[in-house]
Amino acid sequence: MALSLKVIFLLFMSLLQFQSPAIAATSFIKSRAAYYPNSEQNGTADGACGYRSYGATLNGGDVSAASDLYRNGVGCGACYQVRCTNINYCSDNGVTIVITDLGSSGGTDFILSQHAFARMGQTVDTGKSLLDLGWVDIEYARVSCSYPNKNITIKIDESSIYPDYLAFVIEYQQGIKDIIAVQLCETVSLTCKLLDRSRGTVWAVVSPPTGPLSVRMLLSSDDDNDDESWATPINDIPVNWTPGTSYDSGMQIN
Ligand SMILES: *[C@@H]1O[C@H](CO)[C@@H](O)[C@H](O)[C@H]1NC(C)=O
Ligand SMILES: *[C@@H]1O[C@H](CO)[C@@H](O)[C@H](O)[C@H]1NC(C)=O
Repeated sequence: MALSLKVIFLLFMSLLQFQSPAIAATSFIKSRAAYYPNSEQNGTADGACGYRSYGATLNGGDVSAASDLYRNGVGCGACYQVRCTNINYCSDNGVTIVITDLGSSGGTDFILSQHAFARMGQTVDTGKSLLDLGWVDIEYARVSCSYPNKNITIKIDESSIYPDYLAFVIEYQQGIKDIIAVQLCETVSLTCKLLDRSRGTVWAVVSPPTGPLSVRMLLSSDDDNDDESWATPINDIPVNWTPGTSYDSGMQIN
């Protein structure tokens, strides 16, 4: 009797051990992916997010346009693990991509760069075979973005006109949270103004304050029941900001 109880207990424990990784596993959503028809391996520098060349070359060129996941620009910069499901061609892990553009084609959630699309293959050759297919069935899951040795960077958009019009994008944001609002604060007077998205993920203000500026970001809550929270950079944007220049915020989100 005592022995059989022990056996049952052990069986129960091994079942628990077997199940717990499955419970913790990321849940994947089924969809389809295609790829950019351009001749470049990368994404496009004209992406709707407004990232310009950063949006094509980021993450080694493993970037994507999204349709519903674009979320009016909130989805810009979000990272997804995308893996195709054909067992003859596709690797288990697929590829991690960053959303930098808006687009859809024939029921796809992603239009990947060719580089990213081919990387879903088990080998270089199967990657080429995938490209020949044109589109594939996939599964995807939101994952954390990771930019080792990078701080969040404020890139002043080339459309800015000093000192009357300031537009910028936020680059290299790590983690799994969305930036849902942005404030521009005058660091001397500590007055802050909520900014508008001018397009994609470009934040803009007419007649920006004169003086050192700080860009505060409101981050969405994640699924672990934490609240929305403001992230405040360590470094200011200098008084004499210039269009096209990137400023290191001195901080990162982990
Ligand atoms: C494509 O991306 C790679 C990796 O970031 C970069 O080195 C290369 O310059 C890009 N090519 C173009 C045409 O932008
Ligand atoms: C990131 O910011 C910190 C200051 O908070 C600085 O010490 C570090 O050099 C920065 N890292 C890079 C890669 O610029």
